[in-house]
Amino acid sequence: MIKSIVYKSNTGHTKQYAEMLSEVLKVPAYDLKEAKSNLKKNDEIVFLGWVCATKIQGLSKVKKYNVKCIGAVGAYPTEKNYIESLRQANKLNVELFYLRGGLNFNKLTGLKKKVIQLVGNMMEKENKAENQEMIKLFKDGANYVSDENLKPILKYINDNL
Ligand SMILES: Cc1cc2nc3c(=O)[nH]c(=O)nc-3n(C[C@H](O)[C@H](O)[C@H](O)COP(=O)(O)O)c2cc1C
Repeated sequence: MIKSIVYKSNTGHTKQYAEMLSEVLKVPAYDLKEAKSNLKKNDEIVFLGWVCATKIQGLSKVKKYNVKCIGAVGAYPTEKNYIESLRQANKLNVELFYLRGGLNFNKLTGLKKKVIQLVGNMMEKENKAENQEMIKLFKDGANYVSDENLKPILKYINDNL
C-alpha cells in the first residue's frame, strides 16, 4: 500500500502536484527531509521530482524506498518522445509519468534563473515560428499545473497499486 507521496520541488509546481495527489489518495505528501523522518526503508511511495537539464531531481535520495511510480515535473509540453527521452536520461525501470509544471520567475533565483533567461533570449533571437509558445513561457513564466494533467498517473495508481 502506498504510504506517501514524496517530492522534490524547487519553485513549487511539484509540491502543488504532490499535495493534489495526497488529497485524492488520502496519504501524506512529504518533501525529502520529511520523508526521512516519517518513512522506513522499503516503504511504498510515489515519487515526484522536478526536471533540471533532463534529470529528475531527488531520484538518488529515494532509492531506499519502494518507488512504485514516478512523476517528472518540467516546463516543456507533454509529448510522447519527450517522456521517452526522460525515461532514458534517468535510467528508469519503473513507470514514468510527465506532469507539466511551468516557470515561476518570482521563485527562481541565482544561476538557475540566469540559465532560463539565457535559453529564453536565445530562442527569442532565433524567433522560430514553432517556438512562439516557449518564447512567451520563458519570458513571462506560466503555471500549467492542473487536475487534468494528473489523470494518467492517478489512473495508474488506482488500477495497479
Ligand atoms: C536550470 C533549469 C533547468 C531546467 N531544465 C528542464 C528540462 O530539462 N526539462 C523541462 O521540462 N523543464 C526544465 N526546467 C523547468 C522546470 O522543470 C520547471 O520549472 C518545473 O515546473 C519546476 O518544478 P518546481 O516548481 O517544483 O521546482 C528547468 C528549469 C531550470 C531552472
